[in-house]
Amino acid sequence: MPETDGSQMEKKIRDTAKLLKEADYVVAFTGAGMSAESGIPTFRGSDGLWGKYDPELLTIGSFMAKPLEGWQLVKDLFFDVISAARPNPGHYALAELEHMHRLHCIITQNIDYLHQDAGNRVVCEFHGTIKSIICPKCSRLYPSASVALSQLPPHCADCQTVLKPNFVFFDEAIPVDARENARAATLKADVMLVIGTSGAVPPACYLPDIARENGAMIIEINPEPTQYTKRITDIYLNGNAGDILPKLVAEVKSLIETL
Ligand code: OAD
Repeated sequence: MPETDGSQMEKKIRDTAKLLKEADYVVAFTGAGMSAESGIPTFRGSDGLWGKYDPELLTIGSFMAKPLEGWQLVKDLFFDVISAARPNPGHYALAELEHMHRLHCIITQNIDYLHQDAGNRVVCEFHGTIKSIICPKCSRLYPSASVALSQLPPHCADCQTVLKPNFVFFDEAIPVDARENARAATLKADVMLVIGTSGAVPPACYLPDIARENGAMIIEINPEPTQYTKRITDIYLNGNAGDILPKLVAEVKSLIETL
């Protein structure tokens, strides 16, 4: 990286750290790029899942019509990959920021539970979670670890209905709690960190716009510009979450310690 780029990035990290130190309520809004360095593929972009698989297969209609094929796909793409993944330095940096009371809520589109594994406690899972499996008929919830996926598709022990992963498929509504909690946190935010998301999927993608309209500063961390960057981003930190977040949190820490 040329010297000027490096020093510009250092200045942007210092400016962002000052904002985080002064802010009353900081929200992180995260997407698949947050977990890319944990080995979980993103959805879009050159290596993205939707370049290799048809997202139509993960509409709720298609899953319900062909549960065996749907389960085989979600097992291969999500359950097998995510169960082997660990938090990366970006996740741990956000956990440290929460611990320092400089991050108040994470709204994540990810289902991988890596924010919680890293130590974050206030996490709104906008698209649900890989950690549980639900019966769409009687609503019985099963911890994923208790459901054998060797014989697909799995069935409800009570009513024999085919179970469904407890995450949001295309054309499915966002869980009411998640929607309301995300909106409330967004409206409280005076700084929103937008990390590793292309901002392509509604309604999640509207949250940074709502925050900005409500007066929040938008800080974006992403190696590629997105639909937000020119339009609403105040500070664009161009790079990987696992690289930038630890530097940012170290800077916040040094600002707090020099008080
Ligand atoms: P996308 O795959 O659309 O976007 C991933 C973003 O992460 C891109 O902007 C990349 O440039 C960026 N990125 C890649 N590596 C990164 C890294 N190391 N650090 C930071 N950023 C990086 O994923 P999402 O925006 O999360 O929905 O997609 C939103 C939703 O689309 C997902 O929640 C899922 C999917 O279909 C459902 O499952 C309902």
